[in-house]
Amino acid sequence: MGITGSIAAFKAIELSRLLLKRGHRVIPVLTQSALKFVTPLSLTSLLNEKVYYDMFEENENKTPIHIRLARECDLVAIIPATFNFITKASVGLADDLLSLVFHSANLPKIVAPCMHPTLYQNEILQNHLLNLERMGVFIIEPVEGEMSDLTVGKGRLKEPVELLKEIESYIELINRLKGKKILLTFGRTEEEIDDVRVITNRSSGKMGLSLYKVLKIAGANLKVFAGKTDFEIPPDVIRLNSTLEFLENLKGELIKGEYDALIMCAALSDFRPKKKFEGKIKKNRRKLKIELEENPDVLKSLSSLKKKTKLIGFALEEKPDVEVAYKKLREKNLDVIILNTIKTISSDNIDFKIINKNKEVIDEGELSKMKAAFRIVKKISELLSQ
Ligand code: CTP
Repeated sequence: MGITGSIAAFKAIELSRLLLKRGHRVIPVLTQSALKFVTPLSLTSLLNEKVYYDMFEENENKTPIHIRLARECDLVAIIPATFNFITKASVGLADDLLSLVFHSANLPKIVAPCMHPTLYQNEILQNHLLNLERMGVFIIEPVEGEMSDLTVGKGRLKEPVELLKEIESYIELINRLKGKKILLTFGRTEEEIDDVRVITNRSSGKMGLSLYKVLKIAGANLKVFAGKTDFEIPPDVIRLNSTLEFLENLKGELIKGEYDALIMCAALSDFRPKKKFEGKIKKNRRKLKIELEENPDVLKSLSSLKKKTKLIGFALEEKPDVEVAYKKLREKNLDVIILNTIKTISSDNIDFKIINKNKEVIDEGELSKMKAAFRIVKKISELLSQ
């Protein structure tokens, strides 16, 4: 538990105590400014733990303190997190023990910003929060409320009981997904017309990348296939091109019967040119006709192989029509379908509805793709533990 120099630092003490009572071990690491708000003595007395705040303190162990702390923990939570800490976390400054621990820890991370609304609205801060979120940090957003100077606005740290709930639901998600074998696809397909041109679509792959990050942080055992994307894909992602390639590779994986879930976020082409032209089609021809033939529906074709694997599909529609998405869920024999609309394509946000087999909308929202990914993965983790 990283505590930084905010008037709300006292809430971290109460939160630590609540976490302790729930059976978690809390190791406090304070910044120098946090020491002005809370004392190590109060934390040690309440938590029965050594409190860390000095990166130069004497260390008998050969391993540096920040490395040891990062190794000893399962999760890093910075509560409350000041403007200064968030900036350092985002750009990679490591000039005190807490920021060193934060950067050393290859662990799930939670950051709970807390500051005056004027600072919270600051564009630099919002960019840094987005950056942290993109790196897979789970942000506990502040709420509207009264500040220390009695002004009202968004920037207030949630109450300890609320913070506990969010942290525990995050821990639950991690525990449920640890070691689960998940197949994920994202990106867009390309169907070749000739050696130069392709039929494709406008999917960016961003939603899939967000799912990839959340699943990875949560410790899922991932196998990922991606079509073309608007960004460079992580090194462990396997690149595929056409719908038929997706079908072939996914079949090859599902047949093993090892997977807990397949999350089909890829935007696959429903049609491909019947014949691929060799070389480059020149414009000096009188007429050009490209005949298309239908691609197989990959999810439908996989459904006989699914066995214990839960199938999660997406439905891209012009309107957020639950009936239409549910029909796709039934036709493709899915366990869950995530309905989203065409304004989602290439955008950083997604308007989504998660629909289950009983036609219930089990979650919905219009959020950044990273925030939506946390919510979608949470529902998938619940499905996998049923
Ligand atoms: N999908 C698939 N095989 C295809 C096309 C789509 O498995 N040939 C998958 C997508 O990855 C997605 C789901 O099916 O998870 C729904 O895709 P969507 O494009 O919304 O619907 P389609 O079934 O292609 O129907 P339509 O294009 O008519 O809306």
